[in-house]
Amino acid sequence: MAAVTYELIKTCKQSGARLGKIHTPHGTIDTPIFMPVGTLATVKTLSPEELNEMSAQIILSNTYHLWLRPGEEIVKEAGGLHSFMNWHKPILTDSGGFQVFSLSKLRDIQEEGVYFRNHLNGEKLFLSPEKAVEIQEALGADIIMAFDECPPYPAEEPYMKSSVERTSRWAERCLEAQTNSENQALFGIVQGGAYEKYRKQSVNDLLSLDFPGYAIGGLSVGEPKEIMYEVLEMTTPLLPDDKPRYLMGVGSADALIEGAIRGIDMFDCVLPTRIARNGTCMTSTGRLVVRNAKYARDFRPIDENCDCYTCRNYSRAYIRHLVKANETFGFRLTSYHNLYFLLNLMKNVRDAIQEDRLLDFKEEFFEQYGFNKE
Ligand code: GUN
Ligand code: ZN
Repeated sequence: MAAVTYELIKTCKQSGARLGKIHTPHGTIDTPIFMPVGTLATVKTLSPEELNEMSAQIILSNTYHLWLRPGEEIVKEAGGLHSFMNWHKPILTDSGGFQVFSLSKLRDIQEEGVYFRNHLNGEKLFLSPEKAVEIQEALGADIIMAFDECPPYPAEEPYMKSSVERTSRWAERCLEAQTNSENQALFGIVQGGAYEKYRKQSVNDLLSLDFPGYAIGGLSVGEPKEIMYEVLEMTTPLLPDDKPRYLMGVGSADALIEGAIRGIDMFDCVLPTRIARNGTCMTSTGRLVVRNAKYARDFRPIDENCDCYTCRNYSRAYIRHLVKANETFGFRLTSYHNLYFLLNLMKNVRDAIQEDRLLDFKEEFFEQYGFNKE
């Protein structure tokens, strides 16, 4: 029995979006789903109890960061990531490929893997498909990711061709390196940038390896959103109906809705928690920068349409004061609200799919939220 299976419940008659369930060793996830990011085995500022309270179903953590500190051996000794961080629902770990490319300026990509420098102390490091799988097995997440290259946007065609081909060879090496596929599902990652030809080639290569799930990578790397939607339209129809599809690194409200409409089941992004720590809130009427002077005497909640802990108890004026004074409680309150907002948005998306009205929902949402806001 595969560690992770996908159950398609229904397809929205209006939009084509999928309503489903993903069964994992640590429980079942309702999809489409947004996964809060807990890079260093913590969703910054929030406790697992708070994540449970806001109905988070799965979180993401990072191989690269946990490898550097505290080291995967310590996590393994603690009984794995679930015990270490006291989060007993599903966890997905990203492979480190993307982090090496985004955090390390000095890197050398070879067939065997990537040589680069530790972003904390400059020490020389090497990550390969085998090493990324070994670390992810020690961490013990329910879903682990293949080691891939995320090329920049734009990238020249000859580079994209060789990169996609190498990512496919690396994907095969990841599968060969995996030792416990009964307990952990290894997902393949489709690359190919904005080139239809290479997206197709990447999908075909990965399909022949038969992964239990497929991610779409290399998006939200600076390309216009229209390009991202076009890539999804050319990619998701090629993926099997009975496996989960995960769009990596996407977390703006509009892109979650557009992604679901194009057949995506899973999303993750640091956006809600990152902007929260900078005093920016996601609301039903668009973004609200709570540091702004105009909120100094505004005693309304962040979002009058939100019933989260933050909005039920605290005012814009109070949160503005905390954030401006660098008080950690302020960042906890904005982080809580932003995650709640996206998790609740995905709940509304699932309800709309159930009732075959996701396009109507999208229109109503954007009516309030405003177009081109992000
Ligand atoms: N996170 C966001 N994009 C990517 C990607 O292309 N690859 C990986 N491994 N992680 C990502
Ligand atoms: Zn709220």
